[in-house]
Amino acid sequence: MEDTMINMALPKGRLGEKVCRILGLEEGWDADAGRKLVFEFPSVGIRFFWVKPSDVPIYVERGVADVGVAGKDILEEYSPDVYELSDLEIGRCRMAVATKTDFCDDPSKTLRVATKFSHVARRYYEAQGRTIDIIKLNGSIELAPILGLSDVIVDIVETGATLRENGLEARETIFPISARLIANKASYRFKRENIERLAKRLSDAKQEAKK
Ligand code: PRP
Repeated sequence: MEDTMINMALPKGRLGEKVCRILGLEEGWDADAGRKLVFEFPSVGIRFFWVKPSDVPIYVERGVADVGVAGKDILEEYSPDVYELSDLEIGRCRMAVATKTDFCDDPSKTLRVATKFSHVARRYYEAQGRTIDIIKLNGSIELAPILGLSDVIVDIVETGATLRENGLEARETIFPISARLIANKASYRFKRENIERLAKRLSDAKQEAKK
């Protein structure tokens, strides 16, 4: 039998929960949201799964999820072969270069850049013709300049509190970030009507929130 349900990969955490609320699905998962990873809503034709935010594009690109919600940061870093259908205008923050407040750059020297976003950082500095040494970390990036592991970091800044509390400051914005609805290319052909309906529900909710 043809599966008419839309399989949706949602980023585990605040952003995914917000999307659930927007879609009015919060009741179904609240009770045992702790461990369960797959939730079905036959009445609205959605089955969603919680995945690590950076894994959302992998599920969508490979088609086990028809659609997903991913931050622009993740899409810029992994360049998945998917359709970016819409900007959900939530989860706003920015990709920035930050340093210790007293850092003084010497452009003739190799810049040591600590980041989770190595492709983003490489592209950014390549465009400037700057020689860099990428130090790939997986979290707590702000520690790197404090301990002298790097000169700068390329990381997400939302409120700026983490930088401030660690004696760092944002020096350059690389690009603004918000959550995007993405779709698998084949799914978009075969389940187009259902996917467009879902996209419309999300965009209606966005308009409603602006009023
Ligand atoms: C992100 C980012 C910063 C923090 C910025 O980390 O890496 O550490 O948020 O937010 P702020 O400007 O509001 O302080 P996240 O919480 O996603 O966890 P991570 O350490 O796994 O990157």
